[in-house]
Amino acid sequence: MPAGGLQYSEAPYERVHADERRELLMNSLAANSTFNHEPVMANEITELFGAVPHGVVVDATLGGAGHTMRLLTTYPWMSVFGIDQDPMAIEHARKVSPQFDGRLMFHQGRFDGVSEFLQMHHVPEISGALFDLGVSSPQFDEADRGFSYRNDGPLDMRMDTTQEFSALDVVNGYEVQQLADVLRDHADERFAFRIAKAIVAARPVMTTSALAEIVANAIPAPARRTGGHPAKRTFQAIRIEVNKELEILPKAISDAIAATQVGGRIAVLSYHSGEDRIVKQAFRDAETRPGVTTIASPFQHHLSSGKLVKKVRVAEHASAEEIERNPRASSARLRVIEKVGC
Ligand SMILES: C[S@@+](CC[C@H](N)C(=O)[O-])C[C@H]1O[C@@H](n2cnc3c(N)ncnc32)[C@H](O)[C@@H]1O
Repeated sequence: MPAGGLQYSEAPYERVHADERRELLMNSLAANSTFNHEPVMANEITELFGAVPHGVVVDATLGGAGHTMRLLTTYPWMSVFGIDQDPMAIEHARKVSPQFDGRLMFHQGRFDGVSEFLQMHHVPEISGALFDLGVSSPQFDEADRGFSYRNDGPLDMRMDTTQEFSALDVVNGYEVQQLADVLRDHADERFAFRIAKAIVAARPVMTTSALAEIVANAIPAPARRTGGHPAKRTFQAIRIEVNKELEILPKAISDAIAATQVGGRIAVLSYHSGEDRIVKQAFRDAETRPGVTTIASPFQHHLSSGKLVKKVRVAEHASAEEIERNPRASSARLRVIEKVGC
């Protein structure tokens, strides 16, 4: 990401004022008081956290609180500290929290601030943490959030609607090579350079449907007919860039591990190979530190240099039945570590 001053090589574009947009979104949430996001691998996650020491579990990606509500309903001894950078998710948590008698705490912010947030809320240690990465269904489905190539809306893609930097800045401000790097690094886009060139030539690009069309036209016709929507990878890459989704993940995982007591677990659900590579590496790094052991697969465990490993019986992928019901679960990959020493 270019630090500070972006260089706009094309005509300036209008920006809807952040406060105005936030108000619109809050009104929209108030109008539809439900936050429909079906939690992925909820049975597996619930079982996994049944074995942690009694106390506070961090839900680092609270979203619609689907996992959190399952955990709180299943385990009366558990409290959840929910984090989300999206004010709509926090607003939803505020609505559902009274039914849990003070067992649901929440904080709006990015999950790499987990240590700081726990300190602010006087939570000295945790029993584990869950990261369910990526976007929530309402973020994706609400055209006005500008995440989706399927719904026409303003180019936005900010999870944190109080943040200034949005998809408009990436699409209209990055140089061709920068844009191509984003598409390649965050989504393994084969036609990254062609797409980047087409975007720069079409500036200013203001809407999701305009971007989707530019991308589709930039991809050779035979490739367009395979592998889902031609703009899917471009939208994923830009969303990751806008929200800095990958670069803050290692610190967040490492801080969550540091805050976790012995016997606690850290579970991460990722949805594409770029995320999963980072999770795998972060867990490997933790493994090399004394006292932390990685469970590489739920059905096998590695015993390394005198470390005690707790076997975790949970699948890495969603069941066929869940995928049938909720196609979003098809790309989910679950990785889990358990803390065994300090
Ligand atoms: C897949 S959804 C989580 C859904 C949730 N597990 C449920 O069952 O409803 C991911 C959520 O994480 C939030 N999020 C993504 N990256 C984040 C980050 N770096 N810091 C804080 N929240 C983040 C998004 O705003 C979104 O609401």
